[in-house]
Amino acid sequence: MTCPGDWPEPVVRVQSLSESGKPIIPDRYIKPPPDRPSVNSSPPDINIPLIDLAGLTSDDLAVREATLMEISVACREWGFFQVINHGLKGELVDGAREIWREFFHESMEVKQKYANSPKTYEGYGSRLGFQKGAILDWSDYYFLHYLPSSLKDHHKWPAQPPSLREVVEEYSKEIVRLGKVLLEVFSINLGLKHDYLQNAFGGEDIGACLRVNFYPKCPQPDLTLGLSSHSDPGGITFLLPDENVSGLQVRRAQQWVTVKPARHAIIVNIGDQIQVLSNAVYKSVEHRVIVNPDKERVSLAYFYNPKSDLLIRPAPELVTPTTPAIYPSMTFDEYRLFIRTRGPQGKSQVDSLKSPK
Ligand code: OGA
Ligand code: NI
Repeated sequence: MTCPGDWPEPVVRVQSLSESGKPIIPDRYIKPPPDRPSVNSSPPDINIPLIDLAGLTSDDLAVREATLMEISVACREWGFFQVINHGLKGELVDGAREIWREFFHESMEVKQKYANSPKTYEGYGSRLGFQKGAILDWSDYYFLHYLPSSLKDHHKWPAQPPSLREVVEEYSKEIVRLGKVLLEVFSINLGLKHDYLQNAFGGEDIGACLRVNFYPKCPQPDLTLGLSSHSDPGGITFLLPDENVSGLQVRRAQQWVTVKPARHAIIVNIGDQIQVLSNAVYKSVEHRVIVNPDKERVSLAYFYNPKSDLLIRPAPELVTPTTPAIYPSMTFDEYRLFIRTRGPQGKSQVDSLKSPK
């Protein structure tokens, strides 16, 4: 199925709805009762693991090994963790988040210049998926490509605020560096050659793209979601949360755990392609975002992805008579089309891939 050239319905900016000050949200943002935020929330003292990446470069072998082990456990048991001492300066992460907040507070006229279409999703958008009549999420976003360089086009990045492009360049470079570090750590932890995953992703030819999410204040936060439950389709996601407003929830068993971000931390999660490559030793975990009546929220989701036309399949070393390959080979391009067509729908896409035994 190919993507249509335009959205099936007129685009409504959630920010405009929010700013209209109406006390009631339109019906098309109202989720069915089982999907609403109040159902199955976990106790507030539970959080995803917090890992100090400084341990990876410690002079002490025991510390390095303990750090690898913490990451291994987090990948197997949570699929989500937050990292500190990741090498990105505090000013850079704060600066990146705040420059995007400023962008969303530019006039509608400025933002509309970048209005996106379902063909590439690049630019300023307000929905994922193009099914007519779909129930929508309470958020706007901005999507752009950094890698491969053939897809990077500064003209598709906002020209305002003036330093945005420079800040995004610097932030992107650091995220790609961190992505390489973590792919190596995951390879080692999975018992693969240290460069296995980086090579499986295409070596230097990986993909990296950024979705900045803007969750406006919502007058009826109990009825809707900022982002519906989904797993990330790509390789690894690096999420820079808004430290002032929580909102991200991670599924753990039948409960939703609200992530409490540490200062200057970056949240890391496993995407569907690592689930496939690891033959489900690591799982991409469902997550969603709830919204707030008094506070807007900004987050930067950086997707570190395999080169889009490479076949992704379970690593042969992880396929054994007792653990047969559970996924067929598929390129990331083919895979991504599922989500772009239907919008966020839990984990149905990676689950539907499972090869029949
Ligand atoms: C995403 C995502 C979470 C957040 O963009 O894929 O899960 O906290 N974002 O905004
Ligand atoms: Ni996500």
